[in-house]
Amino acid sequence: MTDPTTGAMVELRTALRTTGAIRRFTDEQVDDATVHAILDDARFAPSGGNRQGWRVAVIADPSTRAALGDMMRPVWDDYLAIASTGRTPFTSVEASPYVLSTPPTGRVSNELIDGIVDVPVVLVVAVDLSYVSMMDQHLDRAPITGGGSIYPFCWNILLAARSRGLGGVLTTFLARAEPAAAELLGLPAGWAIAGTIFIGRPVRQPTKLTRKPVEEFTFVDRFDGESFTAS
Ligand SMILES: Cc1cc2nc3c(=O)[nH]c(=O)nc-3n(C[C@H](O)[C@H](O)[C@H](O)COP(=O)(O)O)c2cc1C
Repeated sequence: MTDPTTGAMVELRTALRTTGAIRRFTDEQVDDATVHAILDDARFAPSGGNRQGWRVAVIADPSTRAALGDMMRPVWDDYLAIASTGRTPFTSVEASPYVLSTPPTGRVSNELIDGIVDVPVVLVVAVDLSYVSMMDQHLDRAPITGGGSIYPFCWNILLAARSRGLGGVLTTFLARAEPAAAELLGLPAGWAIAGTIFIGRPVRQPTKLTRKPVEEFTFVDRFDGESFTAS
């Protein structure tokens, strides 16, 4: 991998520890050959049964991008309005999910959404649900295991971008507007939108990410057991 600032090689462990979300990009364009090469690396991601149910739309048309931005904007407004109440937006365990007690007042701009037309690369990643084993779909909670067959692919795209001195971010805003987006993008029936990935040359490459230490999320034998330590 190469560091976008210095051009120096970045070792895999360093890349794992420093591939943060990039939302600001230089004006440098990313050519189709590079996008193709990124996807050519990313396709080696794992998926349940190795079924590789992903499909990618490279969104080049400015009016399509603008329309996607228009679909994402109200989702962002709702997200912020809910977050401002101290709750995690759009969880599946909230008693009355997604209902705002007060409508959002004013707008806080989102540079990705508002600048979507100018982002060097915009990819919408979808998955054919008939290829995804959803092991937990019959439980009395929202299923999560199916995501395991698409998000490693999304993360591989970001790592493959990083390996070329690029950066980006996975977003899920568009999934809340899936019916409208499906029509605009020709999403086949039975498919789901997993995310929109924005990629470009980072204005700044982070070197330190804020993450919890291992001891805070790892326990011995049980999830309520003793904290797992190295010694
Ligand atoms: C499943 C998933 C969904 C995300 N959705 C969004 C999103 O909708 N908008 C956004 O700006 N960032 C999104 N992110 C990026 C996260 O905000 C980011 O990874 C996290 O805040 C850590 O940021 P850092 O790498 O800069 O420390 C998403 C990340 C993941 C893994």
